[in-house]
Amino acid sequence: MSLKQVLHVIDGQETPSLSGRTFESINPATGQAWATVAYGETDDVNRAVESAWRSFDSGVWSRMPATEQAKRMRAVSRLIIERADYLAELETKDTGKPLTAAKSDVLLAAGILEYFSQIPDHVFGKTYPSDPGYFTYSKREPYGVVGGIVPWNFPFLLVVWKAAGPLSVGNSVVLKMAEQSPVTTTEFAKICVEAGIPPGVINVVHGDGATGAALAAHPRVPKITFTGSTEVGRSIIRASADTIKSVHLELGGKSPNIIFADADLDQALAGSVFTSFYNSGQICTTGSRLLVAESMADEFIEKFQQRAKNIVVGDPMQSNTHLGPLISQVQLQRVQNYVKIGKEAGAHVLWEGTPKPIPGHEQGYFFQPTVFTQVQPEMRIAQEEIFGPVLSVMTFKNDEDAIRIANNTIYGLAATIWTNNLERAFTLADRLDAGIIWTNCPHYLKWNVPLEGHRTSGLGEDLGLESINTFTKLKVNYINFGGQKMNWG
Ligand code: NAI
Ligand code: MG
Repeated sequence: MSLKQVLHVIDGQETPSLSGRTFESINPATGQAWATVAYGETDDVNRAVESAWRSFDSGVWSRMPATEQAKRMRAVSRLIIERADYLAELETKDTGKPLTAAKSDVLLAAGILEYFSQIPDHVFGKTYPSDPGYFTYSKREPYGVVGGIVPWNFPFLLVVWKAAGPLSVGNSVVLKMAEQSPVTTTEFAKICVEAGIPPGVINVVHGDGATGAALAAHPRVPKITFTGSTEVGRSIIRASADTIKSVHLELGGKSPNIIFADADLDQALAGSVFTSFYNSGQICTTGSRLLVAESMADEFIEKFQQRAKNIVVGDPMQSNTHLGPLISQVQLQRVQNYVKIGKEAGAHVLWEGTPKPIPGHEQGYFFQPTVFTQVQPEMRIAQEEIFGPVLSVMTFKNDEDAIRIANNTIYGLAATIWTNNLERAFTLADRLDAGIIWTNCPHYLKWNVPLEGHRTSGLGEDLGLESINTFTKLKVNYINFGGQKMNWG
């Protein structure tokens, strides 16, 4: 079987690396390479950054009338919808996520562009009360070139998301997708050119952490937007120091999913199974710590287990599959190691699924959902982001106890609360240190609503009108049209 060839996209052209170097992308469901991908080094990153600046300086996009920008962003969205089945199939081969989930990600990505196509007409400045004879205004200007570094858990959705915000305010971008899942990123850049985004506005360089690091340290990239691990987030801040780069970070989480006895039990069960295991737990906002009221814990955990046992781990191409394999052999080992760490720390394995053979997929990186009970808040499985379908269950005695356990982490990304008591819902929402609170609706997101990770979960606001500030810089102009005359020296 010949491998799919995936290249960089620079200046609107599919482009191999200057060195000719390539790497392979693995299909995690089979463990086999299925694509060969150009590997970007510093000189390839340089070419992409230069291409982005050329397009920016020429004004083809940055000075295009806003209504025209909007029209072209909508055209990208439409092409994505037209090709959703094709894109979803590539995404499934690259990531192992079920085809139905991949299709829904692709359609969500189209929705992001549809939303961001409204932004060009809404990049407002302000006027300020001024002295007589003076007029003062501010405006927002694009940075020029924005570097986007993207992880593998939702490749197409996240790469479109990373591009759409900067693009909507006139920037050109250079995108670096994770080495585990490069294929649909090149497709996205090609679709952009086809839909009328001028060549050089969306550039793609493939490669690994070293390629990302070259982009993050590039002196001519004034803004980096990154989604991924907190560890790499730290190194991006370090790399930003020399040129005082602006960085926007969406990082890890260890989000609590808190069940009160007054919740709608049926909904709390369905939502908890979903937030614990969807995308095999490979989501920054996965509800990886289930906190349940002591008074109803036994009943809840019993019902949770019954429900979770229906989850089908299998061939991602089959429509009845809930969970495909994990993204890579490395991730599989990482997750298996966390299960070992949990056992050694004395947590109780309530349930550890037995891998079932999946014909034709013997080499895939499949992992069954696993549930730990009797977890102590200090244990590593309750503190560290596992990024797999491994759930840590803890109990709490009262609301204070729930808040204390929930906030006992370095992260602050999201928290889900299940309750029908309004006072409790609002009090908890105030006291939990997390950027996103979901009351009875885990993983619910709207593109017009901003988000920001607290603590080590992130830096800077994204989505909504708030993203305008994140991807532009401020300029003010003081105009003296009849104020004081200068008389100095
Ligand atoms: P990672 O954070 O290393 O990778 C994310 C992206 O950053 C990839 O494009 C990668 O090539 C790039 N990168 C790596 N090192 C870099 C550097 N020094 N400078 C610039 N870019 C760099 O994530 P990885 O290693 O794939 O996964 C490890 C763990 O990270 C996961 O188990 C999970 O806990 C966490 N993670 C969190 C994500 C989130 O959405 N919050 C997404 C992916 C991983
Ligand atoms: Mg892959």
